[in-house]
Amino acid sequence: MNDISLIEPTFTEASKRLGRPQVILSGQIVELVCFSKQHLGNSKYLEWLHDHDVIKTLNLPAYVARPISLEEVTEYCWHLMNSTNNLFLAVHDKRNNQFVGTIKAGHIDWYSCTADIGIMIGNKKSWGNGFATEAIRLLCRHLFSHVKLRRLTAGAMSINPAMINVFEKLGFVKEGIFRLHDRHGEEYCDHIHLGCFANEFEQLKKRT
Ligand SMILES: CC(C)(COP(=O)(O)OP(=O)(O)OC[C@H]1O[C@@H](n2cnc3c(N)ncnc32)[C@H](O)[C@@H]1OP(=O)(O)O)[C@@H](O)C(=O)NCCC(=O)NCCS
Repeated sequence: MNDISLIEPTFTEASKRLGRPQVILSGQIVELVCFSKQHLGNSKYLEWLHDHDVIKTLNLPAYVARPISLEEVTEYCWHLMNSTNNLFLAVHDKRNNQFVGTIKAGHIDWYSCTADIGIMIGNKKSWGNGFATEAIRLLCRHLFSHVKLRRLTAGAMSINPAMINVFEKLGFVKEGIFRLHDRHGEEYCDHIHLGCFANEFEQLKKRT
């Protein structure tokens, strides 16, 4: 297993705009902070990644096929925490500073100025309280306004209407349907691809 403390992250100029490692995005009910060794060491994190209710809509077949090991999770997180084209953040409930999930701007393309958004509210007791909505809103604002990205994308399984609802509420537009692309158990479902330009996100913000 890699020892995170031994690694000096090498940030490029562009990726410095991400604001790591100090970035804190604070809203009314959630706070987003850089995912750290403390989050990785929190036993809840691995529990979420072993909870079928949580992972069944993540579209990560390897996680569903068998319980993912701590070593695999550590390697994955370590990669995200040190890469210059991913911003991996922990979602905290602001009322008690509890770690409730993770959010990521992944595959950041510094040439095309695009990124893909993914989220997991791992604490099921937190579902339905608006945490994902505010977390995605905070991250998108940061990416459009500060990091100066041009376009954000996201994908969701069609069996995850809550996720699609949240993205559409924030101004994302359904751009494509990959027919029966995703597997869930012994069945298949459509994969919904969504996208959002800065002006679409801001426009919706003004209406709400
Ligand atoms: C999907 C997920 C991110 C939603 O998080 P959340 O914090 O519960 O989301 P919010 O409370 O901000 O918003 C959920 C919205 O979906 C709506 N919703 C819930 N169930 C719904 C359904 N069956 N159909 C349509 N909308 C639904 C809610 O009413 C709410 O919208 P509203 O605020 O306009 O009322 C969370 O359940 C999760 O992490 N699931 C497991 C991992 C996952 O699926 N991640 C996404 C991978 S793409």
